[in-house]
Amino acid sequence: MIVGPVAIILAAGHGKRMRSERAKVLHEVCGRPMIHYVVEAARAAGARTIVVVVGCGADQVRAAFEGEPDVRFAVQEQQLGTGDAVRSCRAILGSYAGPVLVLVGDEPLLRPEPLADLLARRDAEDAACLLGTAVVPDPSGFGRILRDSAGRFLRIVEERDCSPEERAIREINPSCYVFVTPILWTALDQITTTNVQGEYYLTDAPERLHAMGYKVVATPALAPDDVLGVNTRRHLAQANALMQARIQDQLMSDGVSIVDPRNTYIDGRATIGPDTVVFPFSVITGTVRIGARCRVGPFAHLRDGTILDDDAQVGAFVEVNRSHFEAGATARHLAYLGDAQVGAGANIGATAVTANFDGRVKSRTIIGAGALIGSGAVLVAPVEIGDGATVGANAVVTKGTVVPSGATIAGIPARKLKD
Ligand code: UD1
Ligand code: MG
Repeated sequence: MIVGPVAIILAAGHGKRMRSERAKVLHEVCGRPMIHYVVEAARAAGARTIVVVVGCGADQVRAAFEGEPDVRFAVQEQQLGTGDAVRSCRAILGSYAGPVLVLVGDEPLLRPEPLADLLARRDAEDAACLLGTAVVPDPSGFGRILRDSAGRFLRIVEERDCSPEERAIREINPSCYVFVTPILWTALDQITTTNVQGEYYLTDAPERLHAMGYKVVATPALAPDDVLGVNTRRHLAQANALMQARIQDQLMSDGVSIVDPRNTYIDGRATIGPDTVVFPFSVITGTVRIGARCRVGPFAHLRDGTILDDDAQVGAFVEVNRSHFEAGATARHLAYLGDAQVGAGANIGATAVTANFDGRVKSRTIIGAGALIGSGAVLVAPVEIGDGATVGANAVVTKGTVVPSGATIAGIPARKLKD
């Protein structure tokens, strides 16, 4: 049993214009495959079942949604066009007869609110097809919306098939449609490949329905910033910039200071507490949790799995990977902390590093509360430094060492100094 509303997301194309070995929808925007954003927008707009159409790179695309039971897959064996891609969902949707939101997987900036509006509006108007459109400053690359003299929808023309006059139209097709399912199948049965690309165009379906006397409505529901379709690496860079601005905007609303937004990179999965200041050229990637009143950067790199508790400080040229800084812990200059637990108030000196990888396995470093790690120290994991202990400058603390609380160790290899 398929639970509606359903969203179909087209993701079977290779994306030739990307010139990549990877399926286009898996290229990352702010650290995540772009299709994730589309699936999340569809879900937040109310879709209860999401059918992703896979083809090129199908296994990798499937793998990107492991553990998400509302996401199902339809396979499009040959990439014969967007109309054919939708048709490949017919078997999986069976006798489902409710509304279906059709989106493309290469528009990561879609927001849920206008999609929810489209679903609601389709119901209210009882249309066979409701098209969301956008009026954009630069329509190049998109299909154009043609209307009659009374402003009623006529058809979509692909850019390649446009006359010079049609090319000048700035109302575009972002590929956000709501159809009534059985009627959609009827339309898809009628489309042909008589176009410049010799493909089955989904864009012909609304026109077919209109010609058959069904109610088709086109409404400019989408904002220009929401509909950037990623077809090339240039578009990918634009999508990253727009998404990054959204992420930072939200953080700033939540009370985070970002000194130089354009020279800061923050993954959308990161959370940051109020009164934390992020200085320029800092890069926060993956799921990173930062508390309140922290100081990050300049030139800090915080990687996936890192947690900074309140008042922690990570400064210039410090890389922190899968590590937890407890409250007030500090590494202000030139350090690497990987797989480390850094106790409250501990201080990591300049150029100190954890050697967490021996070429085979990664091991943990535990640094107690209030410990002082001297400049240039190398902690060869696994090691454990007790609360309030001191590691001398340039010490090499060898594998397996456990430094008792309050002790001081120094030298190469590091040995405990007399009390
Ligand atoms: C399409 C629309 C265009 C619209 C634009 C919005 C058509 C014919 N054109 O053009 O009107 O302005 O999107 O972004 O629909 N795909 C498949 N199977 C295929 C072909 C494509 O699954 O056989 C998928 C792709 O993976 C992609 C999406 O459909 O995610 C759109 O394909 P793409 O080639 O990017 O279409 P556009 O040229 O952008
Ligand atoms: Mg596209």
